[in-house]
Amino acid sequence: QTASSPAKSGDLLVYQDGPQKGQVVKVADLKEGAAVWAQAVDPATKKPRDAMKSGVVIVRLKPSEIKASSQKNAVNGVVAYSSVCTHQGCPAKEIGSIGQGKGNIICTCHGSIYDPRDNATVLGGPAPRRLPALPLKTDAAGELVAAGEFTGKIGPK
Ligand code: FES
Repeated sequence: QTASSPAKSGDLLVYQDGPQKGQVVKVADLKEGAAVWAQAVDPATKKPRDAMKSGVVIVRLKPSEIKASSQKNAVNGVVAYSSVCTHQGCPAKEIGSIGQGKGNIICTCHGSIYDPRDNATVLGGPAPRRLPALPLKTDAAGELVAAGEFTGKIGPK
């Protein structure tokens, strides 16, 4: 592990916006088919390792929907990916409700679409490559915890 990695095994995931901002994300709080925007934080300092690059989009899915490509990084039907769009770095942090974006992670800047069931593969829009995954596990309190580093480089090349 490198000092500059924007997430490390054991990092907690903390809401980045909304009414629960600053709280640790628990599996029980997540609704199927919905996304939350969080940051991986160092459990010792409670601070993100990188204000820009530690962002994650967390999605709860039906466990049966999760493809083999995503299963090793998922826990209890929950998957997490870097929320830094690989196109130009806007936050890819929502689930679409219409068209090809329906049920998929979307970046509203220019309409990139990523499949949360299939390792965030690109389904549409200008994104040149998938979002790196953040492997997950849970702790005894049912909190989401990073089980490793991001699986690839964060954001645009
Ligand atoms: Fe996300 Fe352009 S920055 S689609």
